[in-house]
Amino acid sequence: MDLNTVFQRLNTGSKKWSQYPEDVLPMWVADMDFPVAEPIMQALKNRLEHPLLGYSVAQDTLRETLVAHLARQYDWHIQPQDLVFLPGVEPGVNMALNSLAPVGSGVLVQTPNYSPLLSAPAHWKLTRVDLPLHADAKGQYLTDIAALQHALLSARTFLLSNPHNPIGKVFERDELRAIGEACVQHDVLIVSDEIHADILFDGRRHTPIASLSADIAERTITLMSASKAWNIAGLKTAFAVVQNPALREHFTAGRLGLVDSVNTLGLEATHAAYTHGQSWLGQVNAYLQNNRDHLAHAIDTRFPGIRMHLPQSTYLAWLDCSALDIQHPQQFFLAQAKVALSCGLEFGDDCGQFVRLNFGCPRPMLEEALARMERALLDR
Ligand SMILES: Cc1ncc(COP(=O)(O)O)c(C=O)c1O
Repeated sequence: MDLNTVFQRLNTGSKKWSQYPEDVLPMWVADMDFPVAEPIMQALKNRLEHPLLGYSVAQDTLRETLVAHLARQYDWHIQPQDLVFLPGVEPGVNMALNSLAPVGSGVLVQTPNYSPLLSAPAHWKLTRVDLPLHADAKGQYLTDIAALQHALLSARTFLLSNPHNPIGKVFERDELRAIGEACVQHDVLIVSDEIHADILFDGRRHTPIASLSADIAERTITLMSASKAWNIAGLKTAFAVVQNPALREHFTAGRLGLVDSVNTLGLEATHAAYTHGQSWLGQVNAYLQNNRDHLAHAIDTRFPGIRMHLPQSTYLAWLDCSALDIQHPQQFFLAQAKVALSCGLEFGDDCGQFVRLNFGCPRPMLEEALARMERALLDR
């Protein structure tokens, strides 16, 4: 498989490639510039041999495939009926808040964080409670459990992003267990966004928080999707795992009038990804890890004013540009380098000096972005 080829995506309706003028290189939204795995393309073509595309439901084979995948990858044992299919993880987060968070209650979110998680509580007139992730002496971001215990006094829901966007942190079991146990102790609902779970570097393993104990599982809604790892976000398909039947019933009620059936082709693609997509995923994870290391080396050696936090998952690099002494780094790189990055302010009010760079692309594209950014800084 050749992942080095840059595909022309202008005029394909790609959100990533239509947001900015044509001379801008898009390195922002979490969408990779790699073609979809052949087994997924084949499954889509096979489905399109049948000329009817009415409303769809997930078939038992898909449920069984996902149950087997979760058991194999994470030693997490669920039942087929625990699965709820959705048109996206973001709708799942909002459904959970809509149907399960008490009116006017607090929703705890670690910062920085993916902006739709930060903005979701306000959609439902809930109060967002921020809990900053702190970097230790080695630059590793950690949850301050004492601060979490305190913050949980004013929250009924905890929104977790694991692996974490934008810092790429894969939460360790002990940290997750401490978070989960604190939520049990405070009787707080956990909504765990695990959309990046299948992108892992350096031999790391992902742990679903709900897999850690029955007490944690009972209060957790886990949201997953093949969309990030297999690069099929446009097919708008995700799933929730809700093992507690009463919680599942309430959660499902939250879809009423808002979130209906799931995309027919997305269900096919999801099935193909989890049955025949492992080999493609292994190659893409290895390529991404090399891109990450190449990027980290470039930042170290060619960009003295930028510091990169090394992601353990995701194809997103969180870059601290404070030492560049530029008022608005995202706007600077957009205007002067013609490179579109995500602005740190999307992820936290105090993150204006950060940018997020998407390295899920062929190496020549990443190199072109770096060359443009380097030139812009030299010319300044
Ligand atoms: C952490 C996280 N959650 C959710 C989403 C969006 O998921 P969906 O497109 O399934 O709503 C993204 C997309 O980048 C993400 O990074």
